[in-house]
Amino acid sequence: MLSLKKLFVLATSLTSIAGSPVQGKRQASSSLDAWLTSESPIALQGVLDNIGAGGAKAVGAKAGIVVASPSQNDPPYFYTWTRDAALVFKLLVDEFIAGDAALETHIADYIGAQAVIQGLDGPSGTLGDGQGLGEPKFNVDETAFTGNWGRPQRDGPPLRATAMIAYAKYLVSAGRTSTVLDLLWPLVRNDLSYTAQYWNQTGFDLWEEVNGSSFFTIAASHRALVEGSALAASIGQSCSYCDSQAPQVLCFLQSFWTGQYVNANINTNVGRTGKDANSILTSIHNFDPTVTCDDQTFQPCSSRALANHKQVTDSFRSIYSINSGIAQGQAVAVGRYSEDVYQNGNPWYLATTAAAEQLYDALYQWDKVGSITVDTVNAPFFQDLLPGTTSGIYPSDSATFTSLMAAVKSYADGFMSIVQNYTPSNGALAEQYSKADGSPLSAEDLTWSYAALLSANDRRNGNVPASWLAAGANVLPSQCLASSATGTYSSVTATSFPTGTSVPTATTTHAGTTSTSSTSCPTATAVAVMFNEIATTIYGENVFITGSIPQLGDWNTDGSSRIALSADKYSNDSNLWYVSVTFAAGTSFQYKYYRVGSDGRITWETDPNRSHTVSRTCETSEVVNDTWR
Ligand code: NOJ
Ligand code: NOJ
Repeated sequence: MLSLKKLFVLATSLTSIAGSPVQGKRQASSSLDAWLTSESPIALQGVLDNIGAGGAKAVGAKAGIVVASPSQNDPPYFYTWTRDAALVFKLLVDEFIAGDAALETHIADYIGAQAVIQGLDGPSGTLGDGQGLGEPKFNVDETAFTGNWGRPQRDGPPLRATAMIAYAKYLVSAGRTSTVLDLLWPLVRNDLSYTAQYWNQTGFDLWEEVNGSSFFTIAASHRALVEGSALAASIGQSCSYCDSQAPQVLCFLQSFWTGQYVNANINTNVGRTGKDANSILTSIHNFDPTVTCDDQTFQPCSSRALANHKQVTDSFRSIYSINSGIAQGQAVAVGRYSEDVYQNGNPWYLATTAAAEQLYDALYQWDKVGSITVDTVNAPFFQDLLPGTTSGIYPSDSATFTSLMAAVKSYADGFMSIVQNYTPSNGALAEQYSKADGSPLSAEDLTWSYAALLSANDRRNGNVPASWLAAGANVLPSQCLASSATGTYSSVTATSFPTGTSVPTATTTHAGTTSTSSTSCPTATAVAVMFNEIATTIYGENVFITGSIPQLGDWNTDGSSRIALSADKYSNDSNLWYVSVTFAAGTSFQYKYYRVGSDGRITWETDPNRSHTVSRTCETSEVVNDTWR
């Protein structure tokens, strides 16, 4: 039975290669191996050439600035996008951690550059209330781009947080925690604060076209908040706004699922099917090698992500002539979405490698899980590869498991072979390749294309990134709430960021005051204290705080001066009321909570009064956890 199935797979792949218009250029797996071996260093060099200050094709770009492409016009891509740069640097950090030590100076440059970029005033706003962080692209000399654009784009801050967190985690593990506390955490905190505050507001999608809610953006937001909170805890900090918002972001993420595939953009009406490489990119960028095939976080091997992979890739089969004649179950050229008209609507290198990468990730996960589960949602995906596959759990010692693994591997390699076929002999990766004849199109040397090729190749070789703790972050709250939480924004200047064992120098501006330090962080003047009060209330009851100092109303409980706690995170599981109040660092006071019923009656907590002294450290926020008594 096994050998028959294997023969069948072999026979179908031979048939479709013979019938494909790229016949003769298609190469067997061994030459894909050889091509990837020669292409990888070209791709890495392609990335580095586009990074200032030394990059050969990034002349004029400041240190650490990633130029999207050297193309100056048609299309004009000689700018830096927060998204592209973050995805590229996530790749470089992973390569650094995997052993490429030479990359660390570029990572340090990137962090320094982002400290400048975060602080720029631009069309989206300023850092003061975070809005400026949603600005999508900048001039390569680290000044604001003020032309018309699709803004804000809310994926930039969480993607940048994820890139920096990857490096921060490495630093913590290497005993360089002070660098994280002084420099990386304030930068990451800005992006996490933005994400926690604005995730539920609409913005432009990753393709910069649709103003609405984007699956990719929401998933990136969830991931950043989850790993941001863990990073905070690892350095003695906390991120209460990450913790309060992450489950709600995850809850919202579920609403993009149609039952058969992900609708890439909702809260908008663009007249598209919603089948979009947006969602395949989501699965690879939220891949966690330590978890099982979880639908909630859209893991690459999840039933939903596999069903979606089929729907999205199939949507390109009939629209590109280079795909004509390729049989179902064989890899095709993949673009952004089928209705795309940008540059005439062609396949993209990074979308095609993503289709491969999701499957390499899934192979890794099935191998770890030790089985493949075929169910009604993902069966159409598997049946394309192995006709007749039926629902069931196939353990790793079963013949079906072996055949499915082999079929998925060769399907994944098929997408990489398409990229190979349509890459010119010098190895250069543009943004797109022609739907008519596969020749490179649009922006040349797209940095993101090179990074995408490298990460897909890493996964193909079983090299996976670190976990983002998705395992503990897939529990949905009982009810989705359109919530928001405000964190802390502070401007950070990386005056120098030596790598290795040296000590960084950072200047951090908090709440209008600037202090400089070289070995320790500047003391905060103002500290936002988050009061979390667990109080089980009935409908119509509200919770307030009052206390011994003016910021807490001098023990006043008059209607007009009441300081109300918010119940927007209150659920059956967590009867949480909260409010953030800002004090001067070091302030001591007494306080108490009280509740007011719908009849206006006040009920106080029991005595004694509570007391608290605000910390005097470099931290600009802290959390007080109380329970009603
Ligand atoms: C440039 C954007 O980068 C691209 O994604 C978009 O398709 C075009 N503008 C057209 O809006
Ligand atoms: C257009 C793409 O649609 C967008 O995602 C990207 O950020 C820019 N080009 C720059 O590469």
